[in-house]
Amino acid sequence: MSDSAQGTSPAVEANIYHLYREYFNKAERKRRWNLEDDIPWASCNPNLNPAFADVVESFCIVELFLPDYIGKILPLIRGYRGRAWFAANWGYEESKHSLALGDWLIKSGQRTAEELEETSRYAVDHQWNLPMDNVRGMVCYSMVQELATWLHYRNLRKLVSEQDDPALHVLLGYVAVDERAHFDFFSKLVKLHLEDDRPGTLEQLRRVFGHFLMPAFHMLPDGARRKAAVQSLGIFDDDVFIEGVYLPTLDTLGVTRAEMRNKVVKKSHTAGTLN
Ligand SMILES: [Fe+2]
Ligand SMILES: [Fe+2]
Repeated sequence: MSDSAQGTSPAVEANIYHLYREYFNKAERKRRWNLEDDIPWASCNPNLNPAFADVVESFCIVELFLPDYIGKILPLIRGYRGRAWFAANWGYEESKHSLALGDWLIKSGQRTAEELEETSRYAVDHQWNLPMDNVRGMVCYSMVQELATWLHYRNLRKLVSEQDDPALHVLLGYVAVDERAHFDFFSKLVKLHLEDDRPGTLEQLRRVFGHFLMPAFHMLPDGARRKAAVQSLGIFDDDVFIEGVYLPTLDTLGVTRAEMRNKVVKKSHTAGTLN
């Protein structure tokens, strides 16, 4: 069945390349947005609730760990063109997210360039490491992380209406659409892995759901405060994770809760109720 580094067949890798070409073509046709031209920067609101700006800053810093997100997975997948080319394109899309969020923080007057530079040092002075020790596990993790990230942006956007800040509202819309597309791509890869090796892929899914943490958030020096701020605004918490990430992901994959039951690690930050 397997002759590749991640234990998949050549047919699976060929399918992944095909999915990447579909993804790329659709992105070029329908999803590209221009950082300079497509966001109404003149309408940034300097009086927006600072709590929202604080969350934007948190998300911006998480996005700034991009060199680790790309640099640490590429060596594992460099021989697999569908996966590697997707990582390159994904990195381009993610790079725009931190640029856009950082630009909004400065143009809105919520942060000075010096303040943002200082905060951004977190992502230079600390390194994020892969949370899973194999490619299949990383695909499962990335799928879950992308849906969780989409929810973070979607829910923040619900709080920041077009009247509150037209620029941020539009920006969050573009970013959220990108994150949803990332989830869709990774979920298709996980489906291929399930077809190729269901027990092995389910095991990786159990590991991911049992230990899931948003990337880099916990690494920030004031990460606990930032996480609490996100929770207090109702953007993301354990309930959102289960209702908005865990259950919809199983539904998307065609995996039953019974398949996931009993082997989920109990010590989960999402309260060990994942079954
Ligand atoms: Fe992003
Ligand atoms: Fe993403």
